[in-house]
Amino acid sequence: MILVTGATGLNGKAIVREFARQKHEARALVRDLDRASAAGLGGLAGIDLIEGDMRRADTLGAALNGIDRVLMISTAAEDMVETQCRFIDACKQAGVAHVVKFSGAESNIGYDATKFRFTRMHEEIERYLEAVGMAWTHLRPSQFMQVYLRDAPTIATEGAFYLALGDTELSPVDVEDIAKVAVRLLCDGGHEGESLDMTGPEALTMSDIAARISQAVGRPVRYVDVSPRERRRNLLAAGVPADFADALDEQLAERLRRPKSRVHLATHEMFGVRPTPFVEFARRHAAMFGG
Ligand SMILES: NC(=O)c1ccc[n+]([C@@H]2O[C@H](COP(=O)([O-])OP(=O)(O)OC[C@H]3O[C@@H](n4cnc5c(N)ncnc54)[C@H](OP(=O)(O)O)[C@@H]3O)[C@@H](O)[C@H]2O)c1
Repeated sequence: MILVTGATGLNGKAIVREFARQKHEARALVRDLDRASAAGLGGLAGIDLIEGDMRRADTLGAALNGIDRVLMISTAAEDMVETQCRFIDACKQAGVAHVVKFSGAESNIGYDATKFRFTRMHEEIERYLEAVGMAWTHLRPSQFMQVYLRDAPTIATEGAFYLALGDTELSPVDVEDIAKVAVRLLCDGGHEGESLDMTGPEALTMSDIAARISQAVGRPVRYVDVSPRERRRNLLAAGVPADFADALDEQLAERLRRPKSRVHLATHEMFGVRPTPFVEFARRHAAMFGG
């Protein structure tokens, strides 16, 4: 049996839905069953929702009972290392054979991973998992296309979005592609001891992204370059906590220093998943972008 954690989150939900779509059984770990049902996870065929807290082994007995393979996802937050390392300990204790760690990898060429705290945390967790004695695989997507849905409100109302990336390229990947890869990887197994990086199919500047959203919604959309300070002010005004804004500042500084992005589609190809182009993602979400 397979267990997916972080099932109420962006990727966990897409992955659990993909299991249901492919009529494959899986167990999904959630912290609150009512909240999970309200989030649209209730009543999915073949999906067994089960409560537990990744940080507390005493809550995970039923969730980990009879599990062979786990996909481990949790929130990008200050407690991510503690949460995932305690969860790895619980998996080891319960006799899980293979843990797939949902990690992350910046696509910018020459990126100095030591600066951005969440990349550093992922590296620390990867090393911990590798040393613990279970089979492991690291699934390492680049920026998600869905990150641009945060900008949907101003795109819909003003036909513009405001970031501080200048001409920096990124190669965002569609969460639905990650879900398809994850389901195949979890169902078929293998790839033990491998790190699987994946990006989207194009290296895009923010102006390129504006042009693709514009094409999808059928009206002009502009990218407006603002200063890092103004971007931070916008994030805080939108309710982003200060420590998360600090982390995004670190990431922005790194990206501005490394403006060229690579495209890495070997993981898509290995699992037979067609890489979704940004314009197709934007068409799927055209209503949110005001189309
Ligand atoms: N943003 C990007 O572009 C990007 C790119 C590559 C990789 N990543 C990485 O992707 C990961 C986040 O993926 P996501 O955006 O899909 O996640 P997300 O939407 O933030 O959801 C996180 C999930 O983890 C669950 N969770 C957190 N702590 C838990 C605990 N103690 N016990 C049980 N469940 C717990 C949350 O449950 P609740 O609903 O109960 O809170 C939620 O379901 C992070 O590790 C991030 O670094 C991000």
